[in-house]
Formats: sequence, C-alpha cells, structure tokens
Amino acid sequence: MTKDIKIALTGDRPTGRLHLGHFVGSIENRLKLQEEADQSFYMVADIQGLTDNAENPDKVRENVLEVALDNLACGIDPKKTTMFIQSEVPEIAELTVLFLNLVTLARLKRNPTVKDEMKQKGFGEDVPAGFLAYPISQAADILFCHGNLIPVGEDQLPVIEQANEIVLKFNSLYGETFQKIKPVISETPRLIGTDGNSKMGKSLNNGIFLSDTKEEISKKVMNMYTDPRHIHVEDPGKVEGNVVFTYLDIFDKKKDEVAELKKQYEKGGLGDVIIKKRLIEVLEYVIAPIRKKREEFAKDPKAVMKILEEGTKEARKIAEVTMSEVRKAIKINYF
Ligand code: TRP
Repeated sequence: MTKDIKIALTGDRPTGRLHLGHFVGSIENRLKLQEEADQSFYMVADIQGLTDNAENPDKVRENVLEVALDNLACGIDPKKTTMFIQSEVPEIAELTVLFLNLVTLARLKRNPTVKDEMKQKGFGEDVPAGFLAYPISQAADILFCHGNLIPVGEDQLPVIEQANEIVLKFNSLYGETFQKIKPVISETPRLIGTDGNSKMGKSLNNGIFLSDTKEEISKKVMNMYTDPRHIHVEDPGKVEGNVVFTYLDIFDKKKDEVAELKKQYEKGGLGDVIIKKRLIEVLEYVIAPIRKKREEFAKDPKAVMKILEEGTKEARKIAEVTMSEVRKAIKINYF
C-alpha cells in the first residue's frame, strides 16, 4: 500500500445506456479526477449487472459496449483512464469471497441503498444472495487497485460506507492493508426524472439519455410535468417542483435569464411551451457534442472492445499484486 496516492475508480452496471442523471451525478467528477488523480480506473461492472439480471445475460453483454461508448463520448480518455471489464479481472471475485467473511447478513440487509433497490425491483425475501451482497463485491471493485477516490451518485453513499467498514475490519484483523475510501459526490443535487420522480432511473422510463436525438429530447421535454394548475398562459405558475425549471437551474448557464423567467412565470403570462423550448435548446447544447463523439466511436465497436481488453490486462497486473499482499495478510499464501 502506497500512502497518499490518489487513485480514482468508478464504474457503471451495463444494464442500459447512461442518462443525464449519471452525467451530473458522477461523470463530470470522473472527468475532473481523470486529470487530477495519480491514476484513474473505469470499470464496466458486468458482474454487478448480473446480480439482478442473471436470467438476462444478453442484456448485460449488449450494454457493455453501450456504457463504454457513453463514457468515451463524455471524454473519458483511455490514455488517462484504465477502462476494463469487471468479470475479466477474476481477482476481484477472489477478493469478494474473502470480504464476504467480514460482513454479516444483518448488516447487508440494513444497507439503505440495497433496501431501496430491493423494493424498487420487488424482490422481498426472494432477493438473490449476489444482489444483497453487491456492496461487498463493490468494495472489492474498489480495493483491488487500492482505489480511494470514488465518484458516485449520492444514492451510493451507503455502499461506500460499507466498503469502509470492510477496510477497517480487514486492517484490524490482518494488518494495515487498505486505505480509507473517499466518495466524490457531485455538487449538483440529484437529477429528478422527467416525470418528476425523485430519481432518474435506467429502468424507470423517465430518463434523457446521453445518446438521445434532438427529437427524443424534444418529446421528453414537451411531456415534462410543470404545474398542473398553470392552465392558461396568464395564470400564475409554480416554479418549485416544476421539472422544467429544476432542469433549467442545473443546465442553463444563463442564470440571470432563468431568474427573470421564473419571476414572469410566477406572475403569470409565461407559457409552458416557451420554457420547454428553451430547455430543449439548453439540453441539446449539452448532449449534441456527446452524441456526435459517441457516433464516431460507435462506428468501430471492435476498437472500443480493444480499449477494454488492453485496460483489462493493465487492471489484472495491478490486481495480482494486491492479491498477493492480501493472501500474505490472510496467511493463505502456501506455495
Ligand atoms: N453500483 C454502481 C452503480 O450502480 C456501479 C459500480 C460498480 C461502482 N462498482 C463500482 C461505482 C465501484 C463505483 C465504484 O452506479
């Protein structure tokens, strides 16, 4: 373990394309850390994707390329960030098995993130053990390379907290091996869904994807929830809880103009269509360059897979070193 080296690591489950929620929640921080950290890793978390998609391996496989494309399109640069596939680094699975002994079942069941997701997916008691234990495998994802700066959405904070408990427990049982992990959380509040739901979710059908066309963006914005009592243009409207204004607050750079629009809207006399049209342009400004870059990369999927293959080789080398430290610490280094 080398102290004080900044090692950034993050990942996505390949279960769908990435959306604006990922962009403001984590990708912007990934890009920053790619420049600032001593080393950066990006992982396609296919094993984690399978924890609630065991019966659907095709979906996971197909989305490996999609999430890699999304990240490349946003500016993750394989020369600066080691991009790899989780399942192709078997040391992560090995580390997960060893970490399983450091966490109780009761603790796993208490994790608020996992609890929320279980409810959302309707698992109840019939939750796959792998899903319940995904925070343990996520600790291994991070620690196999001694990752310590982790850009994640705020919903992932309890998962990082649990990883830190594993660090503490491991170090106290087997000697100082891992450093504390620091989550890197975005300053932007969590992006609500286009339907006003508190979260934009891959499976909630309320997302604007980084690969959406302008037509798709327009359709989604036009269907956005504003203020149900703002029926006629001259009616005074509510800004708070209004999805369109919530998005303008996050994505529109011209803050003074937005403030002016809000005033007008509250007074009455400003129609929904005007603010929606503005939002479409603002989002198009954010997404258009990403979409363009994505299309470029998508022309050569083999080259993208090659990037992942090379990154995986690099990640494995590092994983082997960590595993030999770990084996030694746990006294399972026999030959
Ligand atoms: N759980 C994360 C998510 O759903 C994805 C992930 C897997 C991850 N392994 C990770 C994030 C390691 C950060 C670090 O978004």
